[in-house]
Amino acid sequence: MREVERSRTEPKLFARSLFDDLPDRYDRLAEMLSFGQNRRWRAAMVDAVCRPGITVDKILDVASGTAGVALALARRTNAAVTAVDLTETMLAEGRRRVDAAVEEGRLAPGRIQFTVGDADRLPFPDESFDALTFTYLLRYVERPAATLRELARVLRPGGRIASLEFAVPASAPARYAWRLYTRAVLPTAGYALGGQAWWSVGRFLGPSIDAHYASYPVHEIVAAWEDAGLEAVVTKSMSLGGGLVMSGRKQAPA
Ligand SMILES: C[S@@+](CC[C@H](N)C(=O)[O-])C[C@H]1O[C@@H](n2cnc3c(N)ncnc32)[C@H](O)[C@@H]1O
Repeated sequence: MREVERSRTEPKLFARSLFDDLPDRYDRLAEMLSFGQNRRWRAAMVDAVCRPGITVDKILDVASGTAGVALALARRTNAAVTAVDLTETMLAEGRRRVDAAVEEGRLAPGRIQFTVGDADRLPFPDESFDALTFTYLLRYVERPAATLRELARVLRPGGRIASLEFAVPASAPARYAWRLYTRAVLPTAGYALGGQAWWSVGRFLGPSIDAHYASYPVHEIVAAWEDAGLEAVVTKSMSLGGGLVMSGRKQAPA
């Protein structure tokens, strides 16, 4: 598929063009098209960094998009949350949601800051965050191992990191149902609910997930986390394998 090829050869241009048209309905459609699973997966990822008894003052959420994860992190902790994303229109929608939460008294002002930036060259000094999350990012970068090293760079030693990605179910019946859903239902339902832009996303998503794991099977991604200096790496397969939450912590010096 041409879009999958482009997402690999010019990932940043591709990601910006894909996400530029989505912010308006992104949150509603992400929940509807995942039958509410996205919310469960996010909660599991947030749980993995917000552990009882661990105080975090500064959290970075990378590929934050419309700030759904950043808002969840702000609700769960007292930390200052920084939301970074490549696509300005996604972050603008995130800002609008955060402003609405502040106006309605659901969030204290200043809790979430926004920065347009690239996960491959984060505009932050080494070891500047106590915890880090990233969601649906690795299919949009050229070299996931290098991106993971950059994410680990800005995390303090001992700090927790967690990610959420789509995945390909391991069992044959679940994989069959997943292929049917991603190839037939997702583009059609996307079009019906969100028009042309969501048809394009719906068509792209399944082949993109398949191509990603064909190049980077989960055990290689785990190895890339470890090579980046992350330890105690745990994978949690969710919803029959359609979602993958990973977590770990940055090694402290011996
Ligand atoms: C599927 S959205 C996920 C948004 C949000 N994390 C969520 O769960 O709703 C993926 C996001 O990754 C962002 N992205 C892609 N490549 C990126 C990069 N190199 N650096 C930062 N963000 C990137 C896109 O702009 C997009 O907003």
